[in-house]
Amino acid sequence: MIRYDFTGKVALVTGSSRGIGAAIVSAFSASGATVVLHYWDDPEGQNRQDAQALAAQLQAQTAPGTTVHLLAADVREPDQVQSLMQQVQQHCGGLDILVNNAGILRDRSLRKMTLDDWHAVLRTNLDGVFYCCKYALDIIRDGGRIINIASVAGLVGFHGQTNYAAAKAGVIGLTRVLAKELARRQITVNAVAPGVIQTAMLGELRPEVLAEYLKQIPMGRLGTPQDVAHAVLFLASEESSYITGQVLPVTGGWI
Ligand code: NAI
Repeated sequence: MIRYDFTGKVALVTGSSRGIGAAIVSAFSASGATVVLHYWDDPEGQNRQDAQALAAQLQAQTAPGTTVHLLAADVREPDQVQSLMQQVQQHCGGLDILVNNAGILRDRSLRKMTLDDWHAVLRTNLDGVFYCCKYALDIIRDGGRIINIASVAGLVGFHGQTNYAAAKAGVIGLTRVLAKELARRQITVNAVAPGVIQTAMLGELRPEVLAEYLKQIPMGRLGTPQDVAHAVLFLASEESSYITGQVLPVTGGWI
């Protein structure tokens, strides 16, 4: 059930062609926001195809006069992120809500982890968040919201995730500092730390690891992308305007 009204607000969700990002951008669109559906233009063209299909679906459901914008950028590339923010400014006249959702997983024990595994995850999951925050500052309005999708992996350590945990813990640190830097402008900066959420990313986990996680979740089920979207909408809402620099776990009681 949608409880918030984001009419007149512009929301950008990175990596929103599928998974948690798609649920978040859909929830903002259903709540009246002008949304920027951002995707990474992968060599196979899969994300573009997914993004176009989702944008058409959201556009068909939005109120007349509200537009769903579709923009591509690789969050690992600062020039592309800067250009993304300039395009948001041109198309939407500014930004109210930035959700840094794009991320990847490359689990391996440290012994087996290649330098590429390390750098790929740090570049996407941490550098990407830094670039998006940095260039969003050129266009975000006072009273805005920045919500970073971290992970419980950034709060506790799981086997095989030195790269992912380092990146997500880094995102949490960045969130706490940026919250202080932007507080005077009444811009809040928070993180959501999902537990185990049913998306394509789980395909990267071995089935026995997933079964082990499931046993430990008190609510006895995996999370859905919508569970995360609801937490994000709360942190983007007017009602959360005095909450900043916090990490909200969405885990079904786990951790
Ligand atoms: P997903 O793999 O379905 O979505 C990730 C998105 O990031 C995709 O749209 C992908 O195209 C985009 N992306 C990847 N590299 C990119 C790049 N270089 N530039 C721009 N976009 C890029 O995964 P999911 O599960 O929806 O994950 C979304 C976020 O939630 C990630 O940050 C992930 O770390 C986090 N998360 C997910 C959990 C889960 O259990 N699924 C648990 C905790 C956190």
